[in-house]
Amino acid sequence: MSTIAEASPAAERTQPGQTNQHYDLDPEIFGLFLDPLRKYSSGLYRTEPITLAQAQVAKLHFVADLLRLTPGSRLLDVGCGWGSLILFMAREYDARVTGISPAGRQHEYIATRAAQLGVIDRVTTTVGRFEDATLPERSFDAVTMLGSIVHMPDVDLAVRRARAMLRRGGRYYVSETCFRNAAARDEFDRRAGTEFVRNSIFGWGDMRPLSELVRAVEDAGFSVDGVEDLTEDYRRTIEDWLLRVEESAAAIDELRPGMAAALTRYLEVANAGWGFTTKHYALVCRNGR
Ligand SMILES: C[S@@+](CC[C@H](N)C(=O)[O-])C[C@H]1O[C@@H](n2cnc3c(N)ncnc32)[C@H](O)[C@@H]1O
Repeated sequence: MSTIAEASPAAERTQPGQTNQHYDLDPEIFGLFLDPLRKYSSGLYRTEPITLAQAQVAKLHFVADLLRLTPGSRLLDVGCGWGSLILFMAREYDARVTGISPAGRQHEYIATRAAQLGVIDRVTTTVGRFEDATLPERSFDAVTMLGSIVHMPDVDLAVRRARAMLRRGGRYYVSETCFRNAAARDEFDRRAGTEFVRNSIFGWGDMRPLSELVRAVEDAGFSVDGVEDLTEDYRRTIEDWLLRVEESAAAIDELRPGMAAALTRYLEVANAGWGFTTKHYALVCRNGR
């Protein structure tokens, strides 16, 4: 068993786009503080009372509605994590789904879950970075990126590729944590808290202001359908994760010594900035006029 410091050598940390130091950890760690679907992105807290598990299911229906998913829709999820979105869309919407991420253990976990859920005929995954993976162009009705574009150094390349994957009229959903504006990035991007989250947790990440994402999708030729502010939803999600880390701290540290404290620091840093330095947005775009 290695500790957090041992597994994060400085040379590895500084490689742009390398995030497997976090996402390729034992999937059971994430099962101890995420919801049962292991969705590692914002839920949707629009009814009360609401649990973390319910908020994540609400969010997945929200995404499916925005993408106008129907039975047989072909969906590509970029940065698929432990398969929360692809397995849900295959099961609930009869969608034919493809997930991609560079973290091999996520794919082992997804394969096991797809078999348990009886959806292996509709689910495929690819291990690799979206930027250089071989995927069939113009063959998807929808492309999603929930919390993954922050890990892609070239935002224009990522968005151009997303559009290249879509049929005409297909939809692109991207949700991400953003700096509140360019001035907030200039002021906070190199602060200790931001550097801790970037280097000691993820290995690499480049948070941008929303304006940069909007410019990238416009330049790629997308038509913007809408922007949703999910800042309060992500704050609530992280509050729920923090509670679960606290409850499961011993079990998390058993799998990886020091991880509970590191997760707590990361999540507290994230929740300190909402509305002041950071915001969380969903952007929905169409490959058409
Ligand atoms: C914050 S997690 C979000 C996972 C998932 N979308 C969810 O909502 O649970 C970010 C995901 O992006 C993946 N990722 C990181 N860099 C990537 C890249 N260059 N191409 C594709 N996926 C990437 C990570 O392995 C991880 O699965």
